[in-house]
Amino acid sequence: MLSIDPLALTERDTYKFLIGSVVPRPIAFVTTRNGSVVNAAPFSYFNIVAAHPALVSVSVQRKNGVMKDTARNAVATEELVIHIVDESNVTLVNETAATLGPEESELDRTTFTTVPSEAIQTPGVKEAKIRMECVLHHHVPIEHEGIVTADLLIARVVRFHIEPDLYHAGRIDAEQLAPVSRLAGNFYAKLGESFEIERPK
Ligand SMILES: Cc1cc2nc3c(=O)[nH]c(=O)nc-3n(C[C@H](O)[C@H](O)[C@H](O)COP(=O)(O)O)c2cc1C
Repeated sequence: MLSIDPLALTERDTYKFLIGSVVPRPIAFVTTRNGSVVNAAPFSYFNIVAAHPALVSVSVQRKNGVMKDTARNAVATEELVIHIVDESNVTLVNETAATLGPEESELDRTTFTTVPSEAIQTPGVKEAKIRMECVLHHHVPIEHEGIVTADLLIARVVRFHIEPDLYHAGRIDAEQLAPVSRLAGNFYAKLGESFEIERPK
C-alpha cells in the first residue's frame, strides 16, 4: 500500500485523489436567486445529512477565497432548489457549469424552463424528475490557513416534488429515475447492476 499525507500533495493532487476515490458521487443541480436572475449549477459534493428533519449538504468550493454565485445567493436569500441529475438532463446540466457573471442566468444556455416553487421564492427547473425546495439550515465556511476555501451549505427540504411515474407506495423507482453520478474528470456513470444483501439482525 502507498501511504500519502494529503498535506504533502499539491492542492490539485489532493482534489484528484478525493474525486477519484469517493465515487460514484450523486449530483445536485442547484438553482438559487439573485434578484430576478435564476442561477443554476451542478455540484457533486452532495449528500444526505439527516432524514428528520430532511437535511442535505452541498459543498461549494471557493477559488482564491471568492464565493461562487450559488453559495453567495444561498447565503443571501437562505433558499435553494436541488434537482436530481439523470440521464435525460445531464448534458444540459453540464452546460450550466459555465462560469458566468452573477447577473447572467446559466439556464439561458439551455432549453430548461423554470417553475415557481410552492414554499420559497426561488424557482426550480421543470424538467427535473425530482426537485427539492430547500431553506438554508446552516452555512459552514471551511477555513484553511486563514482563508475560506469552501462553503458547506446544509439545506432543509421544505417540499419534495417527484414525477408520479417514479413513485410507488412511498418508494422511488431507481431504474426509472436513471440517476447519473460523477466520477473523476469529465467522466460520469449510470446506475449499474443492482443486487440485494440482507442486513444482519
Ligand atoms: C458534474 C459537475 C459537478 C460539480 N461539482 C462541484 C462541487 O461539488 N463543488 C463545486 O464547488 N463545484 C462543482 N462543480 C463546478 C461548478 O458547477 C461550477 O464552478 C459552476 O460554474 C458554479 O456556478 P456558480 O458560480 O453559478 O455557483 C461541478 C461541475 C460539474 C460539471
